[in-house]
Amino acid sequence: MIKIGMAYYPEHWDSSLWEEDAARMAKLGVHVVRLAEFAWSRMEPQEGRFDFGWLDDAIGVIARHGMRVILCTPTNSAPVWLYTQHPETVQWGRNGRPTDIGIRGHRCIQSPVFRRYAERITGEMAKRYAGRPEIYAWQLDNELESNHCTCPSCRAAFRRWLEEKYGTVEALNRAWGNEVWSGEFTDWEQIQPLLAPDCLPDWHNPAFMLDYERFGAWCTADFVRSQRAVIRSVDPDAVVTTNSCFCANLPDFHQEFAQLDVAAYDNYPPMDLPEDPETLYSNGFALDFIRGFKGKNFWILEQLGGAGGCWSPMGVTPEPGMIEGYALQAVAHGADLVSFFRWRSSCSGAEQLGHGVLDHDNRDNRRLKEIENFCRRLEKLPDLDKTDIHSDVAILYGADQEFALKNQRQSRNFAYWKQLKLFQDACMGLGVNVDVAAQDAPLEGYRVVVVPTHYVTDPDLTARLESFAAAGGTVVLTNRSGVKDEHNNCIFGEPLPTVFRKLCGCRVEEYDAVGEKRVHIARDNGDSFAVTGWCDVLEPEGAQVWARYTEKFYAGSAAVTRNPFGAGCAYYVGTVGERALYRALMGQILRERGVPLVDGLPAGVEVTTRTGEGGSYRFIFNNTLQEKSFVLEGETVLLRPMEMKIRTGEGEWV
Ligand code: GLA
Ligand code: ZN
Repeated sequence: MIKIGMAYYPEHWDSSLWEEDAARMAKLGVHVVRLAEFAWSRMEPQEGRFDFGWLDDAIGVIARHGMRVILCTPTNSAPVWLYTQHPETVQWGRNGRPTDIGIRGHRCIQSPVFRRYAERITGEMAKRYAGRPEIYAWQLDNELESNHCTCPSCRAAFRRWLEEKYGTVEALNRAWGNEVWSGEFTDWEQIQPLLAPDCLPDWHNPAFMLDYERFGAWCTADFVRSQRAVIRSVDPDAVVTTNSCFCANLPDFHQEFAQLDVAAYDNYPPMDLPEDPETLYSNGFALDFIRGFKGKNFWILEQLGGAGGCWSPMGVTPEPGMIEGYALQAVAHGADLVSFFRWRSSCSGAEQLGHGVLDHDNRDNRRLKEIENFCRRLEKLPDLDKTDIHSDVAILYGADQEFALKNQRQSRNFAYWKQLKLFQDACMGLGVNVDVAAQDAPLEGYRVVVVPTHYVTDPDLTARLESFAAAGGTVVLTNRSGVKDEHNNCIFGEPLPTVFRKLCGCRVEEYDAVGEKRVHIARDNGDSFAVTGWCDVLEPEGAQVWARYTEKFYAGSAAVTRNPFGAGCAYYVGTVGERALYRALMGQILRERGVPLVDGLPAGVEVTTRTGEGGSYRFIFNNTLQEKSFVLEGETVLLRPMEMKIRTGEGEWV
């Protein structure tokens, strides 16, 4: 059975409400209630004085109503007494000064003093609750970012991390190319993390920036590792996770979740849907990306429950169908637990305008009704959790690529994520499952592996892609691949795509960072596509030409190529196109490789499939505000706006 959850903050409400709230949740179909996130000051009101009485009572009420608990550690918001008694636990900003406390998230996760207090509160919670039957799982902290704190202990930790990596300052100078602009260090103590708020990341040394990002990501992974260890030392079977999100300073999610038992995500899909058909708004990408953290089904720890606006102004209210449709979309991409945020909108604090399921008036409403529908539909599919997503196609993501490309923009209209999304979007629109996997994920079992912009190279991946293609697989590479070595310095003396030149059977003769300008490419069959952002002018060295530029001084030169390689082949896409280009290209590749696809899906309709011991289920989702209809295997399918239809392997519609 897919588990349904609800975030609840008993400490925000009079305890006389708890019983009624729990009864309403249980009646709705909730299985697990997510508790105690941010409640540190209630659990440890003074240093070393713990009070779990209220939490015992809240857990008791929930358990009496037949529900279990996801218990959250409160380390995201330390109590004010900790910050005042130990100012060294406060996070410092890019300006090299302590952050003002008073909202949340202002703790330094790397500070040894903070770590001590965090381990103590988590340890006290574990001693009291771990292993108890009421506890379903644990959530660590909240929406952890990569650690970009600049406090003295983080600076020291960064230096230690570098010292361990490079051994000597001279080796670091060589790796970073510090002879440029007299940047050579003579002592470890001279090395500072980013301390210039007015200085754009592009102005710094890319080699330094990449190591700084890697260090920040390591801190976050190390923090979750240490916190999980505290819980596991009491209950070796505890399931421990954390709720990820797309934040400003992304951690290395794969490294972070390698320390945890299940991947989890806070799922807030868009409510204000764009009309421009070129806008990539489907949240399916995010869900496939999260599933890739551990290469298996995942959890949603916060699922859209109402209008957003926690930091105001408020966003639009979810259109009819959105609450149910988006929750089902998460399941369609591999969620085995969907926990809504939050039971009721808060009457106090900063998030008064961030809406939960119930409004402040506490009445049953339209959104609650949609969650009820969601629960009733899942009850009809009790074996769904015994199924997974099996994909023939993988898109490889690398944290190094994200780190390097975010800090050194390639062109005014070029984004790493956009390319990942374009390929994923094409697969969903062709009714084909797709994994967004880590760059070092095993390639066995896939028929097609897409590697958008493999910019910071990894020699191991080059070798793996070559054997994958040689053995019959199809590889797709794109522009700005093979540009940098492992230190984020440009590879010398070899035409692009350097380490992939042999596999792709072509070289980049020159390139043009066209920015927002639109250029066109065309195929021999007459198909033409607008492209933008970047144009590699390709010179085939054995590859066939799939499409050529029709404009600028390089009109007639190759833009997209296909190179036979052993029993397989490699495509190289030298530019970034409109959605139709990826539909056409992936359509051809999937047909070539015999991957079954769904023809004629209207724009915005997505098809995914879950299969396994629990049966086979096809999810057909209308991610638009218009009605859609199309013919699926001889049967006309009509979809209301935001409607999800599910067809079982036996041909029944649920
Ligand atoms: C995030 C946080 C929650 C809450 C919601 C509001 O995802 O984890 O605590 O602030 O946003 O939408
Ligand atoms: Zn710090």
